[in-house]
Amino acid sequence: MKSFKRTLLATALALLALPVMADPAHPKIGFSIDDLRLERWSRDRDYFVAAAEKLDARVFVQSADANEQKQISQIENLISRGVDVIVIVPFNATVLTNAVAEAKKAGIKVVSYDRLILNADIDAYISFDNEKVGKMQANGVLQAAPKGNYFLLGGAPTDNNAKVLREGQMKVLQPAIDKGDIKIVGQQWVKEWNPTEALSIVENALTRNDNKIDAIVASNDATAGGAIQALAAQKLAGKVPISGQDADLAAIKRVIDGTQTMTVYKPLKLIATEAAKLSVQLARSEEPTYSSQYDNGSKKVDTILLTPTPLTKANIDVLEKDGFYTKEQIGL
Ligand code: GAL
Repeated sequence: MKSFKRTLLATALALLALPVMADPAHPKIGFSIDDLRLERWSRDRDYFVAAAEKLDARVFVQSADANEQKQISQIENLISRGVDVIVIVPFNATVLTNAVAEAKKAGIKVVSYDRLILNADIDAYISFDNEKVGKMQANGVLQAAPKGNYFLLGGAPTDNNAKVLREGQMKVLQPAIDKGDIKIVGQQWVKEWNPTEALSIVENALTRNDNKIDAIVASNDATAGGAIQALAAQKLAGKVPISGQDADLAAIKRVIDGTQTMTVYKPLKLIATEAAKLSVQLARSEEPTYSSQYDNGSKKVDTILLTPTPLTKANIDVLEKDGFYTKEQIGL
């Protein structure tokens, strides 16, 4: 009896000492999202979890609520849970070098989702072509306001996408600046892509320029929403062309009302499904198919870039056709 107990104990101890074995048939994926309070990211989560579960994976979701320290501890937590892959929407692109290194040391693959993590040994990056998004935004505004004073409302300074969007925007705007057709009268980044911050930035810009702003290139719908409130207070909403991105429902309503010139539609189901597939392939040590490479400061990262679509009042029905919104939601 005694020896039976001893054997049992020895077996239990041996089992405890075993490293958590990866089960390629049922991979475990951690999804660390900057901020689930935003409309788009909760949709990304839902599509991602659904797609991953279809591939027999299990997903553990964490939201960092726009807090870089919280995101780092959540990634550490996912590492200790023994996940096979961690998919990250970084709040701050530049602070995850160590967290990613820890994950890699533990044999975990790391995927950068929508936003690129800089200076870190990540395995893959998946996003929409953000330079193209920036070009679409500038083109949409330039078509509506070929001449005049421009204000550039950038994204979060902690988000690499904000920089890439601006590069795309400038490729379109620079020739018009050089010709003397348009003049940039101000530009500012919006902390955390926060609409309230965008509102006060545009309020101040209007005051400083005696309301003589003819166009605003806004980098997403949330910040465009804040800017349009500032314009409305000066009875300028609908008179000053302004761009956006994300096809948020509120923005679609503004595009229909004519207070926002355009938005950019990025099919979230596509990026989430492709990211789930990519993560499961990495967990199973299969070779994903990449479309390009992107330098993140420490390596050339294998990348999948998806194609965005510019949306104006004229082609808003794309959203319904694609199942992004119902006819009732859009209210057409
Ligand atoms: C960007 C993303 C946009 C927008 C923004 C604010 O990185 O590409 O789609 O949602 O963050 O969350």
